[in-house]
Amino acid sequence: MKKVTLMLSIIMGLCVFAAYAGMQTAPDKKEKTKEPAPAEAIAITAEAGIDHPEVEEGITCNDCHEIKLDANTSATQAWLTEDYLKWSKGEGILPEAKIWQEIVTNLGRKKDKMRTFILATCLNNIPLSTTAEFALDPEKKVLYGLHEKGTQKLLHIRKNPKVSLNWHKEFETFNDYRCIQIIGRAELIEGTSPEYDKILIEAIDYEEGAKKKKMTPKQFRDSIKSYMVVSKITIDQITVANYAFTHDDYRIYQRWVRK
Ligand code: HEC
Repeated sequence: MKKVTLMLSIIMGLCVFAAYAGMQTAPDKKEKTKEPAPAEAIAITAEAGIDHPEVEEGITCNDCHEIKLDANTSATQAWLTEDYLKWSKGEGILPEAKIWQEIVTNLGRKKDKMRTFILATCLNNIPLSTTAEFALDPEKKVLYGLHEKGTQKLLHIRKNPKVSLNWHKEFETFNDYRCIQIIGRAELIEGTSPEYDKILIEAIDYEEGAKKKKMTPKQFRDSIKSYMVVSKITIDQITVANYAFTHDDYRIYQRWVRK
C-alpha cells in the first residue's frame, strides 16, 4: 500500500512538473511564431544577392527595408552645392529670397490665375500623376487647389498624404528651360470646415466661375460645397531649374527646404 502511494505521488509529481514545464515553454513558442525582425536599412544602390529571401511580385524593396538615399553623392546634390561645371563647392547658390522671387514669378500668388501642375500621388507603391490647378501662398509656402470629389488622386491623398508636384514651361531649347519640382504633404478640407470659405476667399480665384453662373460669390461657394473639396499642400521642398540663373553666375538648380 505504501509503495502504491509513493508511486502515485511520483506520477502525480511528474504530471505537475510536465504541466509546469509546458506552461514555461508556451511563451517561447509564441516568440518563435512572431514576425521576423525587420530587414536592415539598405543603400539605394544595394542589390538583393542570390541567397536573398524570395520576394513576391508586386512587393518592392522598401516594403521591408528602409532605403537610405545618399544625398551627398546624387547628381542633383552635386548640381545644387558640390563641385559642378564652373562652380566650386558652395558657390553659385541663390539666396532664399531670390529663389522665392523666381518661384512667385512663375507660379503667382494667392488670388492670381491658378497654375496647372502635374500632381503625383502614390498608393500601394503604384504612382499616379494627374493635372490639377493650384494657387500659391508664398508667405506660408502652401498650395491650394479645388477639386471635384471622388477622383482617384483624392482617394490616394486620403490614404497617403505625401505628394510631389511639377510645374514646367514647355521645352524649347537646351539653354532656355524652367521647371519647379515640389515635395509636400496634402490635406483635404471639406465644405463643412470653416477653413473652406476662408481659403476660397483669401487664396483661390473663383469669382470668375461665380460670374459665369450668375451667382454672388457666397452663393457660388455654398453651391460647390457638396461636391468640391479644397486641398492644402504644405511645401517641404522646392527645386527650381532655370538656365537663366547662369547669366548672373548662379547654378541652374536651386533648392529651398522647409526648416
Ligand atoms: C519581403 C521582405 C523583403 C523584401 C521585399 C526585400 N528584402 Fe532584402 N532582405 C530581407 C530580409 C529579411 C533580409 C535579411 C536576410 C538575412 O539576413 O538572411 C534582407 C537582406 C537584404 C540585403 C543584405 C543586407 C545586408 O546586411 O547587407 C540586401 C542588400 C537586400 N536585402 C536588398 C534588397 C533589395 C535590393 C530588395 C528589392 C529588390 C529587397 N532586399 C527586398 C527582406 C526583404
